[in-house]
Amino acid sequence: MNDDADIWEALYTTRAMRRMRPDPVPLDVQARIMDAAVRAPSGGDAQPWRFLLVDDPEVKARLAAPYRESVAMLWRGHYADQVAAAAADPESETSRRFVRLQASVQYLADHFEDVPLLLFAFTRNDRDGGSIFPAVWSAMLAARAQGVGSALTNVLDIFRPDTTRAVLGVPPDRGWDLKATVALGYPRGRWGVAPRRPAHEVTFRNGWGEPAGFTADAPLWPR
Ligand SMILES: Cc1cc2nc3c(=O)[nH]c(=O)nc-3n(C[C@H](O)[C@H](O)[C@H](O)COP(=O)(O)O)c2cc1C
Repeated sequence: MNDDADIWEALYTTRAMRRMRPDPVPLDVQARIMDAAVRAPSGGDAQPWRFLLVDDPEVKARLAAPYRESVAMLWRGHYADQVAAAAADPESETSRRFVRLQASVQYLADHFEDVPLLLFAFTRNDRDGGSIFPAVWSAMLAARAQGVGSALTNVLDIFRPDTTRAVLGVPPDRGWDLKATVALGYPRGRWGVAPRRPAHEVTFRNGWGEPAGFTADAPLWPR
């Protein structure tokens, strides 16, 4: 089956794909992902990035425990209220949505060492990540264009940055900050359009709160 996507399909169907087949991502596919990624914009065209690809099972295995610890900290910290709310009222739509997300996030954590390819994105002099995330997203779109799924994560850079840097041999004194870890692999599931709050509800025109001038109740792709 041909899973290649054009730009519109890639924009609409690049979801968080956390369940992946074990098949490796061929080097020529990886080359196209990275070659597309480095076309991305960055402030002053500084291109303040280094990317580190990991497909060595030993390296992945050394990062699996820190990744799982990080996700555990996420549930105990940032998402503690939502975990408690979902337990208190499991039937509500909000709870169901959260529990689905939690199960998917936890699945990736539980299978971290089985992810075929990991992409670590580093930047420097770029505190808010504005000069690295366009390249990361381009990599994810270029992956999608070739039928490769991806999941953007940042728990390692939040909770275990030093361990991750040590495992990956990142020089400690050159200012490289880990900003994202992207899991890459051929998906087990199917591609689908990401459900989101409609564009016209979050878009204003000429003044805050003013109507956007268009409505898009249903996704405009496919036409
Ligand atoms: C800045 C950022 C950090 C994220 N961190 C994680 C993460 O640590 N673990 C994870 O499984 N997903 C992570 N995600 C993925 C989001 O959960 C996902 O994009 C969101 O739930 C929408 O998913 P969907 O496109 O499949 O609807 C992150 C996404 C972004 C943009």
